[in-house]
Amino acid sequence: MKVTLSVIKADIGSVGGHIRPSQALVNRVEEYVRDNHKELLFDFRVSFTGDDIAILMTHKLGVLNEEVHKLAWDALIAGTKLAREQGLYGAGQDLLKDSFSGNVKGMGPAVAEMEFEERPNEPFIFFAADKTDPGAYNLPLYLGFTDPMYCAGLLLSPKMSKGFKFTIMDVAYTEGDKIIELNAPENAYDIAALLRDNERYVVETIHSRDTGEIAASVSTTRLHNIAGKYTGKDDPVMLVRVQGAFPATGEILSAYSVAPYVAGFMRGSHIGPLMPVKRNSPISYFDGPPIVSATAYCVHEGKLTEPVDAFDHPFWDYIRNIASQKALDIRAQGFSGAAMLPYSELEYGGIVEKLTALDKKFKVRGK
Ligand code: 13P
Ligand code: 13P
Ligand code: MG
Ligand code: MG
Repeated sequence: MKVTLSVIKADIGSVGGHIRPSQALVNRVEEYVRDNHKELLFDFRVSFTGDDIAILMTHKLGVLNEEVHKLAWDALIAGTKLAREQGLYGAGQDLLKDSFSGNVKGMGPAVAEMEFEERPNEPFIFFAADKTDPGAYNLPLYLGFTDPMYCAGLLLSPKMSKGFKFTIMDVAYTEGDKIIELNAPENAYDIAALLRDNERYVVETIHSRDTGEIAASVSTTRLHNIAGKYTGKDDPVMLVRVQGAFPATGEILSAYSVAPYVAGFMRGSHIGPLMPVKRNSPISYFDGPPIVSATAYCVHEGKLTEPVDAFDHPFWDYIRNIASQKALDIRAQGFSGAAMLPYSELEYGGIVEKLTALDKKFKVRGK
């Protein structure tokens, strides 16, 4: 049977700054979906990563379905009402439009979806990141789907021998979806040339070239493109199918051992290491570090198994320590050079205004 996985995620308020939602808020969103989905969904799970709440849903209605998106939007609106009652920080932060129109794309929440013919066993991983943007997945996806140093299956599994097709979006283009399709392995250097620039080019989907099936889907929203100003980081979600024609779970996870430096961290304006964390982890040091959680499921006839926390393992404690050291290393240089994002990416209006005012005071000597 055909099944659609939809994950819709937003920051609708958090306790003690941009740390984590209140338990009552998570419960409210969950109750709303449970009480109002009226057979629309096969199943759903509500979780949080940092200050973002994610609703993972299974159904048969395909991607960008109005009813499914409206249900999630209404759950986030109901949550925002409670966040206001509780006086949570940034209540409704990511709900940037007043009224729902068709689907939540371009309205603030992050969305990742995929529709496919369910395999007899259908394992997948749901990733959620906080204090970073969609480009944070570029390197782990590149390594997991093109590089046999990380994905042994590219050498060992005949089902992966044809490689994968990457659909990459230019997120600086705001008139519509500007995309390019490139095949690995033969276009691997072109893929690398684009994915090098995490703030501009972002993986949207990956497909198997053996079966044509969808393997990965990433949320590509850039909030400042919608709001025209900084409202928060884009805190991306991602769905990745694993095993069979796709990389094994451990091959997809292996690239997170790099804890790559990504954009985000304090005020969405810095560079920090992407730390793999347990499900439902809060935020701490310097409003970070950027974090990513990975929850493994199987889906069968639309029903989800219990969640299994893929980064809850002693191995990842060691990587978390390395990521902490990397965070301290870059934080030691404060605002200088590579520690803070370039001017074009600085999302807080303050520094932009400051530099504009200072520019007027510059004089060209001798004129
Ligand atoms: P199993 O033999 O345990 O199924 O493992 C196969 C595999 O894909 C390991 O990556
Ligand atoms: P969020 O995008 O997670 O709300 O973080 C915003 C911020 O400014 C953190 O310092
Ligand atoms: Mg926030
Ligand atoms: Mg967030």
